[in-house]
Amino acid sequence: MIVLGIETSCDETAASLVERTEDGAGRILADIVLSQAAEHAAFGGVVPEIAARAHVEALDTVIAAAMREAGLDFDRIDAVAATAGPGLIGGVMIGLTTAKAIALATGKPLIAVNHLEGHALTARLTDGLAFPYLLLLVSGGHTQFVAVDDIGAYRRLGTTIDDALGEAFDKAAKLLGLAYPGGPEIEKAALSGQADRFALPRPLFGRPEPDFSLSGLKTALRLAAEKVAPLSDDDVSDLAASFQAAVTDTIVDRTARALDAFTRLHPNLIDPILVIAGGVAANTAIRTALTAAVAEKGFRLLAPPPRLCTDNGAMIAWAGAERLARGLTDGLEAPARARWPLDKLAAPMLGAGTKGAKA
Ligand code: KG4
Ligand code: ZN
Repeated sequence: MIVLGIETSCDETAASLVERTEDGAGRILADIVLSQAAEHAAFGGVVPEIAARAHVEALDTVIAAAMREAGLDFDRIDAVAATAGPGLIGGVMIGLTTAKAIALATGKPLIAVNHLEGHALTARLTDGLAFPYLLLLVSGGHTQFVAVDDIGAYRRLGTTIDDALGEAFDKAAKLLGLAYPGGPEIEKAALSGQADRFALPRPLFGRPEPDFSLSGLKTALRLAAEKVAPLSDDDVSDLAASFQAAVTDTIVDRTARALDAFTRLHPNLIDPILVIAGGVAANTAIRTALTAAVAEKGFRLLAPPPRLCTDNGAMIAWAGAERLARGLTDGLEAPARARWPLDKLAAPMLGAGTKGAKA
């Protein structure tokens, strides 16, 4: 079966066609991602109104480009999937409404996909992973450990009680006068910096629940920067390196707890796997540290290619295909949702997609 997937929940306008064969294997036929990052750069973060307008302007073209790249017309697709949340509501409504219009015009079923489910299932598209596995999603708007037990069966083991990890990188970069998005800038500056020059805190270090808290670290960075201001290039590099080291140590510690929690849920797995996704997973220092930490606990680290770790249409098309294979489709009344937790039983937390709603 072939599914068209549409993603508009943040600052990427994306459309993709993905094929799923009966044995559960997936193949990307087309994958178009148009980033709006340049339009938001001057503001140091995503501006919802600008994002929504840009989606309206670009989405038709992006879908047409995906169809052309796959060499298909609408007759050949089996369903239309779109992100129905969580995310910036204007963008979500634009993508979902477009999907509904296509579904109505073509008579194909609609699948309203949870954006986080898209991230959670990507490793099954790229690596054919079997359930269950553990996911660490670290992006601009989401920071969570999720036990991915089955389609629709997710247990959140930990999250952030304030800022998302990517958001923390972006705020740190802004504070140091670096460009947006901040993660890659911090990583670059940190390369020539001394990570031990500033002693920054490792919030929640050693706590048994695999949660994060980043706002204290951000404040500590600001105070450290104010002490040495005006900042030379060396100061910026040292602050960036110290910040990245603190975040890396924190992720490693929090991940160790999450692996323990996951092992308690699934004690007899032969080849337990941690999948990492989201923009922050692109960070080499973090990846290297995580690979070692995960191996120590007998886990394997799996990172889908960066292009599929950040927001894209293929993950939505794939989640749609997985749902369609189970007969799970939605009616045209499916709502767009700014908030939509993957794990309905998990307590709501500030960092779980409630702030910028960037996923
Ligand atoms: O998943 P993503 O591309 O988009 C959404 O959040 O929706 O994640 C973007 C986030 C930004 O906050 C960015 O600063 C961060 O991921 N990021 C990084 C790196 N590359 C991107 N953070 C740390 N190191 C990086 N190399
Ligand atoms: Zn996302």
